[in-house]
Amino acid sequence: MASSSSSRPWRSLCFVTLLAMAMGQTLAVFQPAPWSMAHATFYGDESASATMGGACGYGNLFNNGYGTDTTALSSTLFNNGYACGGCYQIRCTGSTACFRGWPIATVTATNLCPPNWSEDSNNGGWCNPPRAHFDMSKPAFMKIAAWKAGIVPVLYRRVPCVRKGGLRFSFQGNGYWLLVYLMNVGGGGDVAGMWVKGTKTGWISMSHNWGASYQAFASLGGQALSFKVMSYTTKETVVAWNVAPSNWNMGLTYQASVNFR
Ligand SMILES: *[C@@H]1O[C@H](CO)[C@@H](O)[C@H](O)[C@H]1NC(C)=O
Repeated sequence: MASSSSSRPWRSLCFVTLLAMAMGQTLAVFQPAPWSMAHATFYGDESASATMGGACGYGNLFNNGYGTDTTALSSTLFNNGYACGGCYQIRCTGSTACFRGWPIATVTATNLCPPNWSEDSNNGGWCNPPRAHFDMSKPAFMKIAAWKAGIVPVLYRRVPCVRKGGLRFSFQGNGYWLLVYLMNVGGGGDVAGMWVKGTKTGWISMSHNWGASYQAFASLGGQALSFKVMSYTTKETVVAWNVAPSNWNMGLTYQASVNFR
């Protein structure tokens, strides 16, 4: 598949270097990870409405740009929410339920598939540790296998997330507690850490709340807010200056012009 580019490594390296120079910054180019083995099931129906409000905190996946190509991860892959927003290619393998040509579904991690300790990990407890398991939306699963199979073996790998537009910061909390859900993250798609800066403060380190949310216990009302975000996968940081104007409010989402790629 990648033979054409791997046979000309210099050309692509030069291209990436020139592109980085042209943009005046170093691009952390996240390469796809090697393929690994796992299994996949699906949850919900063809409308994927059951995937809304998942553990990553993205809320309505249609409104927030994630659509139906989403998956829940077993806790081993979920990594306490640090895997939220990451993108995976999944292809069915080694089952007669797999579609011809082993097509690839590309999905975003938006939810946790919790363990069920009353079921054996080889018989129903598919998401129990230490299993790597994808509980996909039904529309995504139907791209790789016949849904009647229920569970299929798959190959999977992390791939860069392709997003339109900048990082999106969705605000919750109260006057003393700012809780921010970070969405539409490109590149690695995941977040290792976040800092917030009001026009009257220095950079304040935010702590990981849950899923894709970070929090600061500070009174930041009446100040325009900037955010510094670190990618979990690439450790690259991006600064979104004055994303939220000084009259920002809880319940609103603010979009930056910058993103990871
Ligand atoms: C766990 O498995 C048991 C046995 O199949 C089932 O009755 C129960 O509903 C499951 N729990 C959850 C939270 O899905």
